[in-house]
Amino acid sequence: MKMIQTAEAMQSEADEARRAGRRLALVPTMGALHDGHCALVRRAKKEADHVTVSIFVNPAQFGPGEDLDAYPRDLDGDLDTLETLGGVDVVFAPPAEEMYPLGAPQAWVEVEGLVDTLNGPHRPGHFRGVTTVVTKLFHLCRPHVGVFGEKDAQQFVILRRMTEELHFGVEIAGVPTQREADGLACSSRNEYLSQEERAQAPVLAEAVCAAHGLIAGTTEEQPAEAVVGQMRDALAEAPLAEPQYVAVVGARDLQPVETIAPGQDVLAAMAVFFGDTRLIDNAFVTAGSQEEAEKGER
Ligand code: PAF
Repeated sequence: MKMIQTAEAMQSEADEARRAGRRLALVPTMGALHDGHCALVRRAKKEADHVTVSIFVNPAQFGPGEDLDAYPRDLDGDLDTLETLGGVDVVFAPPAEEMYPLGAPQAWVEVEGLVDTLNGPHRPGHFRGVTTVVTKLFHLCRPHVGVFGEKDAQQFVILRRMTEELHFGVEIAGVPTQREADGLACSSRNEYLSQEERAQAPVLAEAVCAAHGLIAGTTEEQPAEAVVGQMRDALAEAPLAEPQYVAVVGARDLQPVETIAPGQDVLAAMAVFFGDTRLIDNAFVTAGSQEEAEKGER
């Protein structure tokens, strides 16, 4: 496993691997690696025969007052995790000056529309920080495929739109959300939770599960508000949970839907605070898919 910290060395490594005819995958991360990241690396190994994992806590995607300084950093621990996992060719862990030589960026990459719902209004500027850094990482690591977690569903949809619309020539592969034994979605921010908060946090997964059941079981048009209501009821079981948003939106355009009809692809999503810790969870569901699955079994 090669450790690379400069943009120039990363581009040379990627060019050489491409010249040698290898198929390159990139797994962009901000470190503090957990089982969710390991699943991304496993997928990358299936997709390609040269795997780069980038580790970079990207200042451009944190707003004022967000957790940039507190964000967990453990490069040595991350390297151990990747060594144990095996099959990683390169770890690209640049310092901030290497990614942003001018300090604050002057060139941004922005996707409009998709950023106006869900997390977007609550984290102004966040997604343009993500699309900008992922663009840079793609230019430096030159992957054929980029691997991302579907837990960050809005990020996933935005990055897919960016690469398609701007002809990046990079495939975007999505990996389903990895969960702890009690259902809580794996996240580096779970480390911030107190014992009491951690005990209540699986309520997000319960709310997602309730939404999934209702949407997949759709046999005739139903108001999205009914699903949102069930999700809110599930969250209300945890006294420490403070929902920031709970929504059902179209799976591709991320715009709110009023009704859910069989065959419709939607995303049920939420952000919930436990104290200062903001957790998200969500599920892509095709309405009525339960009925289809049952028909298939018959
Ligand atoms: O999902 C993340 O960890 C980050 O948003 C990403 C894609 C690595 C960009 O900094």
